[in-house]
Amino acid sequence: MLFDIRVKESLRDLFDRDDEIEKLRASLNEPLVVVFGLRRVGKSSLIKAVLNEYAPSNYFYIDLRRFEESGYVSYRDFVKALEDSINARVRSRRLLSMLSRIRGVSISGFRVSFSWGRDRVMLADILDSINDWAGDEGLRAIIVLDEAQELVKARGFNVLPVLAYAYDNLRNLTFIITGSEFRVFTKFLKLNDPESPLFGRAYVSITLKPFNEEQAVEFLRRGFKEHGIEFDRAEEVYEELGGNPGWLTLFGYRALRMGFNEALNETRREAVDLIRREICNFINEGRHLAERRYLRILEVCVSGCRWSTIKMALEAMEGRELNNSIVDSLIKALLDYSLLIKEGNTYVLPDKLMRDAVIGLRCFVNAVNSDNV
Ligand SMILES: Nc1ncnc2c1ncn2[C@@H]1O[C@H](COP(=O)(O)OP(=O)(O)OP(=O)(O)O)[C@@H](O)[C@H]1O
Ligand SMILES: [Mg+2]
Repeated sequence: MLFDIRVKESLRDLFDRDDEIEKLRASLNEPLVVVFGLRRVGKSSLIKAVLNEYAPSNYFYIDLRRFEESGYVSYRDFVKALEDSINARVRSRRLLSMLSRIRGVSISGFRVSFSWGRDRVMLADILDSINDWAGDEGLRAIIVLDEAQELVKARGFNVLPVLAYAYDNLRNLTFIITGSEFRVFTKFLKLNDPESPLFGRAYVSITLKPFNEEQAVEFLRRGFKEHGIEFDRAEEVYEELGGNPGWLTLFGYRALRMGFNEALNETRREAVDLIRREICNFINEGRHLAERRYLRILEVCVSGCRWSTIKMALEAMEGRELNNSIVDSLIKALLDYSLLIKEGNTYVLPDKLMRDAVIGLRCFVNAVNSDNV
């Protein structure tokens, strides 16, 4: 059902995305795949649907979104998340028996338990065991780190050296990593940073974009049709919400339960709230000194803008000249975080609803506030 608001688990329920499905399927033997995309665009759905179809018994899904609200991620937190991901899927006695030989692992029935205290389990040992098990079974074990950028908040441990070790040595493992666009790339994996343990490693990149108008209209029509409804206001919905599948799904779900206008307004409000949280997360990540500057750039770019317009707007706001390199670095940070997109010589906002999110927005540390909410 297209208007099911949970993560889609089956290819049957996934609308379109044929190219991305094929690319992911074809990459399941590669060591590293990175799936980029805005919030709610369908990253988790793509991965789960493809893995349930093509690798149902050999993937482990670690959902790091659970740490979104936490200030930091401890070794214990991460090990527990890994433990949950194995317990959710493990059906193999052989895997359990291999894991049981590692220090810091205990097995009870079909459940594995990792210790994080003095006798702490080592991540590399767990990966070694999974790799050996996959080799024995003639399989590829796939480990998904969903929303990996949360691991930037890791305290007292670092996953990257272990990932680099696995990349170089464990031939039966594939890592699929997701995150909101370049945030996971620049802040977590840092594949282009010579200081990063993963520097220079090749990877497959898959970017999920919002639907275009034609796709969005078809998505809505088909979704309503599943409920026996002929829907002829899809263009209006696209006009308001844009093409992010998450918002379209939520709208469809709501419209089946309430009136058209109410469904549209509620979805819009929710989407704008989430986008505001994303913007404020970015600003609060140690950059609040530049808050006014970032928000000013986003405001100036709601209908598209040039580099020179940005510079002029910032100078007008501050009443002084600004160095070009400062303007460049502000823009680059917004691009890296996917809050801004470059199209030719113009900068635009990536999501239609961002316009509403940006106007009147003020971010305070760990809070979103605005007169316009
Ligand atoms: N191609 C699609 N076909 C049908 N529904 C989709 C599709 N893509 C996304 N959805 C729906 O959109 C919503 C968001 O999808 P999903 O959670 O997979 O996105 P995400 O990118 O992982 O989001 P988040 O950034 O919040 O983790 C869900 O309700 C999902 O069912
Ligand atoms: Mg997700």
